[in-house]
Amino acid sequence: MKTVWVTGGSSGLGLHTAAALRRDGWQVIAGARSFGDETAEDGTIRLPLDVTREESVKEFCRRAAQIALPDALIQCAGILVLGSCEETETEEFRKVIDTNYLGMVRMNREVLPLMRKRGGGKIVLFSSINGLLGIPFQSAYTASKHAIEGYAECLALEVKPFGIQVMLVEPGDHRSGSDKYRPHAAAMNGHSPYAAAYESAVAQIAHDEHNGSDPDVLGRKIARTLDRKRIPFRKRIASPDQHLAVYIHKLLPAKLNEAILRKYYIRKKSS
Ligand SMILES: NC(=O)c1ccc[n+]([C@@H]2O[C@H](COP(=O)([O-])OP(=O)(O)OC[C@H]3O[C@@H](n4cnc5c(N)ncnc54)[C@H](OP(=O)(O)O)[C@@H]3O)[C@@H](O)[C@H]2O)c1
Repeated sequence: MKTVWVTGGSSGLGLHTAAALRRDGWQVIAGARSFGDETAEDGTIRLPLDVTREESVKEFCRRAAQIALPDALIQCAGILVLGSCEETETEEFRKVIDTNYLGMVRMNREVLPLMRKRGGGKIVLFSSINGLLGIPFQSAYTASKHAIEGYAECLALEVKPFGIQVMLVEPGDHRSGSDKYRPHAAAMNGHSPYAAAYESAVAQIAHDEHNGSDPDVLGRKIARTLDRKRIPFRKRIASPDQHLAVYIHKLLPAKLNEAILRKYYIRKKSS
């Protein structure tokens, strides 16, 4: 039986991906802060993990390795803070980067030696469409996902000789995430100079996510892909209009892109 370690396995896309892998016969060891030491009904082994804490990452990897070394590592742990660039506190930026990006770095630093010794493995990093283009009031999240994109390119180049493959998953909106991982920046309120634009953009973001794609389908796609001998470097799992948005973002001049995205997210009263 092959073994996969999954971070952020308690909610959203991580939970759905872990479930799909279990159904496909993988042994799944999942980590999240809210896990104790338990085995889920479907057989998923759950261990506590906080990817922002070095000791917690080491302890998770030590204990998971005692159960089974990873054939694959899937990194889904992530948070988002909604707020303007001006009003999002440095500490709020730091928390998002620390979880989404440095969390992956910490996990990989522990897992890479294990995979090298075994002669290979697969590392799946959850980026986002926001790893490819920016949208208003998600700058901390967008910056963290852009960091992941650049980091993954470097990683793939370095680890290929050791038989380790890297895959970036770039999901579009999925109706999976929990609002508790999408707090508003502390300073965002009715008195913000960005209040009207913010309200409009946040409503559009929530609408798109609530009407997003099926997370179970994403889980199954990842499970199928992981079964292949060779996995692609990029796997975009998004609706046709989000594929199109990425495509035109690459093609169009920046000013035109800006106009399109402003019109989409920032409507009516705001300038
Ligand atoms: N949902 C979407 O539409 C969408 C779109 C594009 C990309 N993504 C990406 O997909 C991934 C999952 O997002 P989601 O929205 O589906 O899930 P979510 O419901 O927001 O869940 C976030 C997960 O991350 C875990 N987590 C947060 N901070 C953590 C930490 N410090 N250490 C360990 N685990 C931590 C949470 O578990 P605990 O609280 O128990 O620790 C939870 O399992 C993220 O990387 C996200 O950026 C999602």
